[in-house]
Amino acid sequence: MKTLIVYWSKTGFVKKYAKWLAEELEADIISGEEITEDKLKEYDGYIFGGSLYAVGINGADFIKENIKHLEAKKTAVFATGASPAKKEIIEEVKNKNFSPEEQKCFKFFYLRGGFDYSKLGFKDKVLMSIMKWKLNSKKKKGEEMTAEEKGMLAAFDNPVDFTDKENIEEIISYFKE
Ligand SMILES: Cc1cc2nc3c(=O)[nH]c(=O)nc-3n(C[C@H](O)[C@H](O)[C@H](O)COP(=O)(O)O)c2cc1C
Repeated sequence: MKTLIVYWSKTGFVKKYAKWLAEELEADIISGEEITEDKLKEYDGYIFGGSLYAVGINGADFIKENIKHLEAKKTAVFATGASPAKKEIIEEVKNKNFSPEEQKCFKFFYLRGGFDYSKLGFKDKVLMSIMKWKLNSKKKKGEEMTAEEKGMLAAFDNPVDFTDKENIEEIISYFKE
């Protein structure tokens, strides 16, 4: 099967998973900035991967616009965020980004990424600084913080990387079925 991997990555976590998948499946790989509808038509299977920004998946618009090409082909979509791979989070992400009809055209996966503040662009740095300020004021007031909020606050000073090659196994098995 001729498979294409398309990725949308701002700081490199999704790109890392995309490269691992391309190696394992001997698939072609292309970034979301370069992909075109014509290019899609050359393949029999697709894997689309995008990172999470306020629950929205980078690249979801392209996937939705081209949903008609996905229907008859083997397709996986994966999202990558800093959050742990919890069932509720994965369901929320899937349902906020895709309608039930769209979800029938692909299998959805979540591959945990990481967080690297230093590699963010200006706009994302501003957004994250607001979040950091909110978390810090919560901490100062002595309010209860979740483990995820504590982890997020610590990640501003030291980048965290939860990527793991084992995480791609589910997608590999799906493509080898
Ligand atoms: C502005 C902003 C919003 C984010 N929102 C989420 C989110 O809603 N859920 C999540 O799990 N991670 C969130 N993240 C973390 C990124 O999804 C995470 O760092 C991801 O690994 C980035 O992958 P990339 O480098 O391939 O773009 C956010 C990061 C930024 C900068």
